[in-house]
Amino acid sequence: MLTAHDSLEEKIKGFEAGADEYITKPFQPAELQARVKVLMRRVAIALPERVQKTSKVIAVFSLRGGVGVSTFATNLAVGLSQLWKDQVALVDMVLTMGQSALMLNLPLRNTWGDLAKIPSEELENDLLKNVLLNHESGVSVLAAPRTYVEGETITPAIATKVLDLLRNNYPYIILDLPHDFRETTLAGLDAADEIIVLIAPELASVRAVVGALEVFDELGYDREKIRIVMNWVFERKGLARKDIENVMKHPIQYVIPFVPDGFVSAINLGVPPVISDPESPVGTLFEDFAFALSKQEDKESTPSAPTSAYNRVVERIKARHHSRR
Ligand SMILES: Nc1ncnc2c1ncn2[C@@H]1O[C@H](COP(=O)(O)OP(=O)(O)OP(=O)(O)O)[C@@H](O)[C@H]1O
Ligand SMILES: [Mg+2]
Repeated sequence: MLTAHDSLEEKIKGFEAGADEYITKPFQPAELQARVKVLMRRVAIALPERVQKTSKVIAVFSLRGGVGVSTFATNLAVGLSQLWKDQVALVDMVLTMGQSALMLNLPLRNTWGDLAKIPSEELENDLLKNVLLNHESGVSVLAAPRTYVEGETITPAIATKVLDLLRNNYPYIILDLPHDFRETTLAGLDAADEIIVLIAPELASVRAVVGALEVFDELGYDREKIRIVMNWVFERKGLARKDIENVMKHPIQYVIPFVPDGFVSAINLGVPPVISDPESPVGTLFEDFAFALSKQEDKESTPSAPTSAYNRVVERIKARHHSRR
């Protein structure tokens, strides 16, 4: 408040009405400036870089290993960052043996292990920012610890706190989850707005998904937020989509075809196909997934400076629309 009412009574009234500061006339510009600066500092401490926009957490999961969870999580994270030029966090929750950093060729300078040493109530944004590894695509990776033993030191309380902090800072958060329901995995699933479940077209994988869906039902997760993605990780003949859907009693939302050499060489080079070759069939597929899984508000508004990834996706949507008519 800046006012000529300079009595103590008026001042108290002002503060009671919610003023953060009360300056009486006549005043010196330098004093006004100094007080505004103090106020701004106070606000900055109280609300650490809170992003105004909402944030979306997408968990990628399977109870069975080797069905493409990490591949999907990595390519989705990069795809989202290339679409929206927005900050995306890729969180490796495979705390015992994760490989998100490897898949992006990032040296393990810092990992989850560095966070385990800090009491969860002392964890804050700046600290977390220093632990994330920055990839040139704009994706920030929270890498899995270097050793199994270190992985065991991450408690569910730390995991939950870290995910909360990330939510305040990143518009998109992608979780590469392990093949289990341990407490830290549940912390990730609980935080998720959407859960992508990977399935390969073979019996063991179908059983794993049926088992996972049962647990999701028990946990009270809305089936609406669960999307099944069928991934052809092998070349031989597999089960039919319709049969799998009947057993699962849940639709398969997307299908990834078998990619002969692409993913393996991409892993060896540390460059996911959505970066190395965005116009290849796999690159295209992941760009489209990234768009489909984007926040509604992003999909509905045209960006002021659209990225080339955005333009490509929109062109494809138009083309599909035309061919349908
Ligand atoms: N559509 C595909 N076509 C061919 N190979 C694939 C496909 N999807 C994934 N792969 C390959 O399958 C292997 C497993 O993929 P990935 O590591 O992403 O799975 P995961 O579920 O995270 O495995 P893990 O259990 O090791 O965590 C990798 O070698 C990957 O390159
Ligand atoms: Mg993996």
